[in-house]
Amino acid sequence: MTDPERPETGHDDAEIAGNGRISADGGNDDEAGDGWDSETRGGSDAEAGNVWDADEYDGDHSFVYEYGADLLGLLEPAPEERILDLGCGTGHLTAQVAESGAHVVGVDRSASMLETASGSHPEHPFVVADARALPLASGFDAAFSNAALHWIDATDQDAVLAGVHDSLAPEGRFVGELGGLGNVGAIVDAVGAELGRRGYETGTPWYFPSIGEYATRLERAGFEVRHARLFDRPTPLEDGEDGLRNWLEMFGDGLFAAVPADEREGVYRAVEDRLRPTLYGDARWIADYRRLRFLAVRP
Ligand code: BEZ
Repeated sequence: MTDPERPETGHDDAEIAGNGRISADGGNDDEAGDGWDSETRGGSDAEAGNVWDADEYDGDHSFVYEYGADLLGLLEPAPEERILDLGCGTGHLTAQVAESGAHVVGVDRSASMLETASGSHPEHPFVVADARALPLASGFDAAFSNAALHWIDATDQDAVLAGVHDSLAPEGRFVGELGGLGNVGAIVDAVGAELGRRGYETGTPWYFPSIGEYATRLERAGFEVRHARLFDRPTPLEDGEDGLRNWLEMFGDGLFAAVPADEREGVYRAVEDRLRPTLYGDARWIADYRRLRFLAVRP
């Protein structure tokens, strides 16, 4: 693909923006003096109240990027394309996309996840940035996001989509997957019931939209939606009997924010009891994931 707005290839990419923005090879400068460099663009390890543990994420929860690999079929990355991986985490999919010969920039809000990503894949650029205020130059051929958008509040989704739209060249693709309406519904309901019984306020820290809602947002941001699908993906959790408990501990900080640390173990066990009849069998837990997957194009 070629496009007049597209950054040149090669070393000079780092200077293309000239305004402190990240170019398609991940270089940035701060000649504009806006004080933003790759370490200060809103980086934070807390996403929707969740604190990330990169080792745990890569260990027992590797299914997140393993399932994401399936999404690459929709992205169809091509050699020399400039691709943005939004919410790249520890960079496994970034590296997989790059195997196509594309130039991929990984962006994530969590500095500790990116430290792991850079350590494992030093050949690719990784940038700490907040998806709600992407410091990106325009001209990317595609943007890609797996299991990241649902961590961003509904009220901030339009800002994210506007930023992705602006970072793409005309005909640029945005391929994404996030939790869809009803995602982990049984788990959320069981946690809500248990916390309610104990007198704690409950709420869902994630954003799980319907096709209609997200396609509308994409269109409002200027995209043409070419594909959208909502589907169940029952997901086996690692670690046998401890699988659900570990999942709650890894991803549930926002759910359990009101619960004192010394009470959490008891809550986890009570939630297990509630869910065992429906989500446990053959010595493993199956999380009731539902995915919303889309392909949208900037006209
Ligand atoms: C998900 O990938 O759908 C997800 C993961 C953790 C918490 C909530 C949703």
